[in-house]
Amino acid sequence: MVRIRLRSYGVRLDILCVVACLSTLQAIFVSSHRNYINLNSTGRPLLHEHSIEVLKQNDFGGYTVPALGLYPFQWNWDAGFIAAGWAAFDVDRAWEEMETLFSGQWADGMIPSILFWKASDTYFPGPEIWGTKENPSNSTGITQPPIAGVIVRYLYDCTARTNRRLAQQKVSKLFPKILAYHRWWYKARDPLNTGLVAIIHPWESGMDNSPAWDEALHAFPVDDIPPYEREDLKHVNASMRPSKDTYDHYLTLLYRFKAANYDPEKLYWMSPFRMTDLCTNSVLFRANRDMRFLARMLGKKEEVREINTWLRKGKERFQWLWDMDSGLFKCENQLTGKLSSARISGAFLPLFAGVASQDQAAALASNLKLWIDEVKFGVPSADPAGPVFDPVKYWSGPLWININWMISSGLRHYGYNELAEKIEMDSLTVISESGLREYFNPRTGEGAGGESFSWTAALYLAWLDGEVL
Ligand code: DGY
Repeated sequence: MVRIRLRSYGVRLDILCVVACLSTLQAIFVSSHRNYINLNSTGRPLLHEHSIEVLKQNDFGGYTVPALGLYPFQWNWDAGFIAAGWAAFDVDRAWEEMETLFSGQWADGMIPSILFWKASDTYFPGPEIWGTKENPSNSTGITQPPIAGVIVRYLYDCTARTNRRLAQQKVSKLFPKILAYHRWWYKARDPLNTGLVAIIHPWESGMDNSPAWDEALHAFPVDDIPPYEREDLKHVNASMRPSKDTYDHYLTLLYRFKAANYDPEKLYWMSPFRMTDLCTNSVLFRANRDMRFLARMLGKKEEVREINTWLRKGKERFQWLWDMDSGLFKCENQLTGKLSSARISGAFLPLFAGVASQDQAAALASNLKLWIDEVKFGVPSADPAGPVFDPVKYWSGPLWININWMISSGLRHYGYNELAEKIEMDSLTVISESGLREYFNPRTGEGAGGESFSWTAALYLAWLDGEVL
């Protein structure tokens, strides 16, 4: 007997049943989403088996690459979303994804944005750029949004349903490592103790070419960097990727950080790019809440107190990022003290964190409806009425499934169930119509970027068969 928790319109149905009835349960979910999911002749979602195949095909042994060729290593926040997908059919493999990620943790607590576990010549900038040709690095020297705490809580919930002891054992091994990672964030990226952390490279946000970085990125000149050849453009059309000038800025930052030996004590102060990113801070805040839950479960009182301090300070400081005029949260440029004028999908992630007031949530929900009315499928990564919106250019407009997963979860917490449902349906529809693509044109639903993309496959599975986030 297995216990399967099925989600349908945000309601948890706890059902005891034999494995054989899985397809019946899935049919309940599918029947409520019938108009949005393509089914095969036996009534199962067409992409269900294919999503599992994609994760298996992208499994390089203990870690899953985001997309063959285009992204041939393990990425930090990808690993988290991907683990949620593995959990829908192989929870041991889900834990392994996170354990592999944390085996690459630096001594100071940082989890790098990319771990170069196995050699590949299909990605730039790879290990020989982060390190040297003679002495390649085994990781980047920067990080990514810290989703690990959220995911480990999620895996705990998945596992504890059938085996609480195992769930606790798994958590107790990862908990101190995640806590060390959060401590690293506050020490290295909030040395002034404001309550919110900074990113020092657009790659750290995971939203590389978001319009939120345009002004700050172009405020410093490009250095005399070595000539380079981009590998991404061999896999994806240039119209869907960041521009050459943007890449020149990315590499300028990389080479400056490398010259400082990626010393976190120095990088915060020396970086000409220092932003309070909404996505990173919302994810960190939410991860702190999930870590507090896990700390309580493990009986770690001191740690609960420490996390509470982060939560208290973070909550206060988030208000600094609220822009009353637009009814949106905004990223802050720490070097100028100004809020960025860009309107990005990260504006809605404080709902996922749970730091928005009810009034702020109402303003966010009405803005979100306007954005979705402008396109066809939500959520575009930038305001579709904004000056630089581009529906296929990476993070300057396309719809991303991981962001939708977090925004819809946030909306449900605030009671905006209809809007959450619309975003869930849009996600299932674009995937159903266009496949497991990296991102989607929100006007047409067409796929863009990489193909057989792991987190799209993973979150499709998590939505069909997984836990409630
Ligand atoms: C890329 O290479 O596009 C990645 O987003 C960097 O982490």
